[in-house]
Amino acid sequence: MLSIVVLISGSGSNLQAIMDRITKDKLDAKIELVLSNRADAYGLTRAADAGIETRVIDHKQFDSREQFDQAMIKEIDPYQPDLIVLAGFMRILSTAFVTHYTGRMINIHPALLPAYKGLHTHQRALEDGVSHHGASVHYVTAQLDSGAVILQGRVPVLADDTEEALQQRVHKIEHVIYPEVVTWFAQKRLTYQNNQALLDGEVLDQPVIIDQQD
Ligand code: GRF
Repeated sequence: MLSIVVLISGSGSNLQAIMDRITKDKLDAKIELVLSNRADAYGLTRAADAGIETRVIDHKQFDSREQFDQAMIKEIDPYQPDLIVLAGFMRILSTAFVTHYTGRMINIHPALLPAYKGLHTHQRALEDGVSHHGASVHYVTAQLDSGAVILQGRVPVLADDTEEALQQRVHKIEHVIYPEVVTWFAQKRLTYQNNQALLDGEVLDQPVIIDQQD
């Protein structure tokens, strides 16, 4: 059984999508703990409603990023997770934290990486007039939004798009691709070697891409 710890800071709709996939498809996976750096994160309610353990560690209570990260490791490690899922966790992680979980920590970023690392991705995509935008699930490395990309969800950018409309379209496909990658982990189809993602033993030179269906 794949043992998972999820880190959040906010709404937790991606967490919900993963919880739903586990329930619906009876994946051999269990979310052991949902950890948030914010006490008001709605994702904590989603987790508690599903009977999942929750913990809040407020980063503001620590003098340094390293100390905060060590406190998280102390909470996470007793569960011996196979996979750490960052689902809207809005803190930059220290190198020590990332190194500790290398090869077993993934993130979802709202852009077709390597395009638009960092913040305000939808706005930047609109300003550039690109034809497509989307989201990427990737392994986490010490460099922000730069680890090997596993799966991308691609959506069209429409002529009359607002930032909000585009964000909603991307969010919808996030809820497809993140549970899909967790499924691949539960099926033991994904591995990580030499900073590369392997699916079914084959190096992913390019991420797998899912296009919006409707
Ligand atoms: C998503 O847009 C994700 O791409 C980004 O943070 C947001 C989290 O949304 N990393 P939610 O909390 O899962 O609704």
